[in-house]
Amino acid sequence: MATALAKADDVDAVDHAARIEHVSKSFPGPAGQQLVLDDITLDVAPGEFVTLLGASGCGKSTLLNLVAGLDQPSAGGITTHGRPALMFQEHALFPWLTAGKNIELALRLGGVPKQERRGRAEELLELVRLKGSYGKRVHELSGGMRQRVAMARALAQDSRLLLMDEPFAALDAITRDLLHDELTRIWEETGLSVLFVTHNVREAVRLAQRVVLLSSRPGRIAREWRVDIPQPRRIEDAPVAELSLEITEVLRGEIRRHGQH
Ligand SMILES: Nc1ncnc2c1ncn2[C@@H]1O[C@H](COP(=O)(O)OP(=O)(O)O)[C@@H](O)[C@H]1O
Ligand SMILES: [Mg+2]
Repeated sequence: MATALAKADDVDAVDHAARIEHVSKSFPGPAGQQLVLDDITLDVAPGEFVTLLGASGCGKSTLLNLVAGLDQPSAGGITTHGRPALMFQEHALFPWLTAGKNIELALRLGGVPKQERRGRAEELLELVRLKGSYGKRVHELSGGMRQRVAMARALAQDSRLLLMDEPFAALDAITRDLLHDELTRIWEETGLSVLFVTHNVREAVRLAQRVVLLSSRPGRIAREWRVDIPQPRRIEDAPVAELSLEITEVLRGEIRRHGQH
């Protein structure tokens, strides 16, 4: 496989890519501690693609940040197989560096020797279908291309677990469809585990093997669905639409019960 990422040989040796056990999180608020996440238990298996779905403000980013190790749970524990890679809605690329150099920076931080970085950056750009964009600056790239570079940079970290926080939320529908296709292909090619956060039900069903629905205030696991629809799926496929409707009904019920929206 001509990519910088090979399928890890040891992927079957660990039984989880991420293990979230009885995790709660509170933040100090005006009326004392505010419980945002309440007793979340969730495993992501090696190579599994899980979407975490919920209304805005329900605690999705809080949970992802905990898994990333950017913050500590108030109770419970989290273990991951190695250090996860992260991708957010904002690409967070350095504007003064080219696409290629942004990726090389991640490779350098990951300890890849200098003489190998250029070649690997080119391979990663090819993997996200941006061959020939090595020398482009961030302002020369469209929104979709920037997210492709951000994806390549996340992949440059060579993690077994990719955490994605609404990475395509700011893109137009056509660009988002294309990036769903790319992400599915890359996930299949690399065998990565993905924990993908979204408030978009159809996006969750389009991508995942398993959709985990969070309730709001506090965030708890309300329900989960296994998605057995073969890939590649399209967001407008009938089975995707059908399951999305079912999940939306449950999500609406959750939102009504909490009366916040
Ligand atoms: N650092 C923080 N301090 C205080 N409150 C926070 C902090 N981070 C998140 N929250 C609160 O936690 C709740 C969930 O936020 P967030 O995880 O960003 O939701 P989501 O990503 O699902 O939209 C919100 O009410 C938010 O105000
Ligand atoms: Mg969020």
